[in-house]
Amino acid sequence: MNLIIMAIESSCDETSVAIIHNKKILSNIINSQKIHKNYGGVIPELASRNHQKIIISIINKALKNAKIKLNQLNAIAFTRGPGLLGSLLIGASFAKSISLSLKIPLISINHIHAHILSNFINKPKPKFPFLCCIVSGGHTQIIIIRNYLCANKIGETKDDAIGEAIDKISKLININYPGGAILDIYAKYGNKNKFKFPITIVPRLNFSFSGIKTAFLYFLKKNKKKNKNFIKKNKFNICASIQESIIETLINKLKKAIKQTNIKYITIGGGVASNSRLKNKLTKLSGNKIKIFIPNSQYCIDNAGMIAMTAYYKYLNNKFSNLKTCIVPKNL
Ligand code: KG4
Ligand code: ZN
Repeated sequence: MNLIIMAIESSCDETSVAIIHNKKILSNIINSQKIHKNYGGVIPELASRNHQKIIISIINKALKNAKIKLNQLNAIAFTRGPGLLGSLLIGASFAKSISLSLKIPLISINHIHAHILSNFINKPKPKFPFLCCIVSGGHTQIIIIRNYLCANKIGETKDDAIGEAIDKISKLININYPGGAILDIYAKYGNKNKFKFPITIVPRLNFSFSGIKTAFLYFLKKNKKKNKNFIKKNKFNICASIQESIIETLINKLKKAIKQTNIKYITIGGGVASNSRLKNKLTKLSGNKIKIFIPNSQYCIDNAGMIAMTAYYKYLNNKFSNLKTCIVPKNL
């Protein structure tokens, strides 16, 4: 079989286009919009305007890097949701236009499904069934994956997503949005045991990250009263300590999920999966029985490579969409 698919990801503030040839990613161009830094979070209106402005050049770059011509494509895929309405509409409209003009099948993709299957881009690959912990700016879930197209969610956050909490905490200590990657770097220079933060106990395999965010705010207020330079003087220790509490919460729930399900193959996905402390702690979990799989960083953040990989498996299973397919901004 000789299958070439183009995939478009535009669910939030990354405009990304990838080309896949069978199971091999030929190109994966990601443009992260910088403008949102000025506002401390993603502004939906600006995100969609930027997708519109840049998408043609990203498509051309993806084709050029893959050394593929538009008329060689066998299918076109796009992110259907969850995500921002205006942003999703840009990717969906472009994909539909390409499908219509080239007369090729259209494949719609669930963004979370794609974060899970990002684990099949690099080697080694997990075996079914496996557990996947999705950790991103919009989601925190534990899912059992039974095959390429079948999954059951067994735990999720009841309030903030992990990345959302990390970004809000970062903002409180003057780290620009999205703060996760910088907080991770600062944490490397700090003492993770310097400060202690309360962890919200949530039943079953669910999470809550809004409590720690509020506790962090009060911790800063109290200490700034005593010393107005508290943040500046303790930045690295603060980052290391708060990161440790958040990652520890995640690892504890993952251990509980492993025990409950008896599943030995563990994967992660989403932007927070590039966190060095999380990777470090996960690696320590692996042993004779447990096997851990972590996607390469370019496939952790929002990217079209993971959309393309998911589209490949949907194509093999004849799961096509049509021009009437609507985007779904909320969780599918
Ligand atoms: O998957 P993603 O690109 O977008 C969503 O689907 O939400 O994830 C973005 C999130 C942001 O919250 C960002 O701060 C976080 O991933 N992130 C990190 C790191 N790199 C990105 N969080 C912690 N440590 C990192 N190294
Ligand atoms: Zn994502």
